[in-house]
Amino acid sequence: MFDSGLGGLTVLSAVRWSIDATDVVYFADTAHVPYGDRTLEEVSGFARRIIAYLMEREPAMIAIACGTTCSAFDKLGWPDIGVPLLGLVGPGARSAVEATRSGAIGVVATNATAKSGVFDRAIRAERADAVVTSIGAPALVPIVERGDWATDDASAAVATCCEPFVRASCDTVVLGCTHFPHLTKWFREALGPGVRIIDPGEAVGRDAAKILSELEPQSGAIDFEVSGDPVAFAKSASILLRAEVNAKGRDLS
Ligand code: DGL
Repeated sequence: MFDSGLGGLTVLSAVRWSIDATDVVYFADTAHVPYGDRTLEEVSGFARRIIAYLMEREPAMIAIACGTTCSAFDKLGWPDIGVPLLGLVGPGARSAVEATRSGAIGVVATNATAKSGVFDRAIRAERADAVVTSIGAPALVPIVERGDWATDDASAAVATCCEPFVRASCDTVVLGCTHFPHLTKWFREALGPGVRIIDPGEAVGRDAAKILSELEPQSGAIDFEVSGDPVAFAKSASILLRAEVNAKGRDLS
């Protein structure tokens, strides 16, 4: 699986929650984070290079632990890799439609994802009368990447981006960027107990488990590879996963 940085760890946790006897290679493209401020063409290019690299490891599947990459592939085409390539948008949209009562659904994502309208289309394909409020929150990914997820700044930034959802009386909000479940505490605080918060990674975890449970159980080893600074990544990842993480640097350019 891969992401631009620490965000995909939320998907990794969901996959490992559903099935632990599986080996994982996690690639973090921190040399290019944040993806959300780049063009979808650029993001698709990075992602295709990472997928080609991961395919050398002969995986049973690849999970795209990055909403922005899913938006890019939705617009520019999905690579055909011969093994399942799991995305977040369909599972996130389905979970949101199952959860909502009123049909007023919020989506908070990167600018690139919000602008692409990918979640809006997927939600309306599941429920035609849904009213979707979609916003880009570019401040949040750098907060997580800096390791500031537990700070007052994080709380204030999340509160600001939740204002449109409160005004639109959304009863369900999708975290359409995988970095954002690291900030769930603040989303809960800002949105209140009546609003369902959807982390699409949880449904991806269940989908992955269905595929992986057919295979021989493995040791459960996780290899972390990082295109930027492996030490900085490992430090934050160790805190977020509550486990010792070692990461190797890997330049794909
Ligand atoms: N975590 C990724 C996503 O789900 C990328 C965020 C970014 O690098 O801007 O969109």
